[in-house]
Amino acid sequence: MIQTVLVVGAGQMGSGIAQVMVQAGLDTYLHDVSAAGLEVGRARIADLLRKGSERGKWTAEAVNAALARLHIAHDLEAAKHVDLVIEAVIEDAAVKTALLVRLDTLCKETAILASNTSSLPITTLAAATGRPPQVIGMHFMNPVPVMALVELIRGLQTSDVTYQAIYDLTVRIGKTPVTVQDAPGFIANRILMPMINEAICAFQEGIATATDIDTVMKLGMRHPMGPLELADFIGLDTCLAIMNVLHDGFGDPKYRPALKLKQMVSAGMLGRKVNQGFYSYREGQRVP
Ligand SMILES: NC(=O)c1ccc[n+]([C@@H]2O[C@H](COP(=O)([O-])OP(=O)(O)OC[C@H]3O[C@@H](n4cnc5c(N)ncnc54)[C@H](O)[C@@H]3O)[C@@H](O)[C@H]2O)c1
Repeated sequence: MIQTVLVVGAGQMGSGIAQVMVQAGLDTYLHDVSAAGLEVGRARIADLLRKGSERGKWTAEAVNAALARLHIAHDLEAAKHVDLVIEAVIEDAAVKTALLVRLDTLCKETAILASNTSSLPITTLAAATGRPPQVIGMHFMNPVPVMALVELIRGLQTSDVTYQAIYDLTVRIGKTPVTVQDAPGFIANRILMPMINEAICAFQEGIATATDIDTVMKLGMRHPMGPLELADFIGLDTCLAIMNVLHDGFGDPKYRPALKLKQMVSAGMLGRKVNQGFYSYREGQRVP
């Protein structure tokens, strides 16, 4: 049974994944290439755990126990000690591939390598390692502590043993697994991201304001967030990376990323994490 985990990437997804792991009783190492990013991730976990205890969701003792299971790893050597690595670094095939190659050399033979990629082919990531049967997609939703779904993506060579171990772990941490075969965007982003991209196209054509586009989808379709605020929340760089994977993967022009999305990413307007996207933010809160 999986007891120890290393989460690589302490951004919004990696920190959320590490939080649910320690809350479920797993000893968890958290690593990021950026020391500042690692500290932000650690502080975010501590803050969310503390706020949850103040709201009566769990006890102060549970918070202390969870934090005691969280180990900050300043280098990747921690990979040697774990049963599972979940990578949640930026959505860049070259960065993820280089990381998995390095992890493959560090990890014990039995360890599983999981990727939280939103869209990149698991079969291709797995092929870069010497252990394709032990590589799998574990696609958490954002924000991880809140969202129940995890898409489990089976690469062409993912073994039944690996799949079952990750399925069992997903249930153990209180999430609902859904099994998906390896295809661009899997299920979640194959459906969600073209909708967001279409909203950006409507916005760039001046059909309606950002607020009105979001209001249509919230009040008209009962979506909890409008597509443009959701794009800000996900991160526009991640949205663009996913659209590029869909476009390249299917070769179908219907997945062409909106020009405005490309421009905003080039301009560094990545959404909530940098306080500017379709909307402006201050310390993560929308500025009216
Ligand atoms: N944002 C979402 O809504 C969402 C949802 C599901 C999955 N994902 C996926 O999760 C992954 C991370 O997304 P995020 O939103 O947390 O991004 P983020 O930008 O918040 O965090 C990425 C982190 O990775 C770190 N990093 C970059 N290269 C690294 C390396 N080589 N080694 C260690 N750390 C490295 C960065 O310093 C940063 O802290 C991506 O693959 C993304 O597609 C994102």
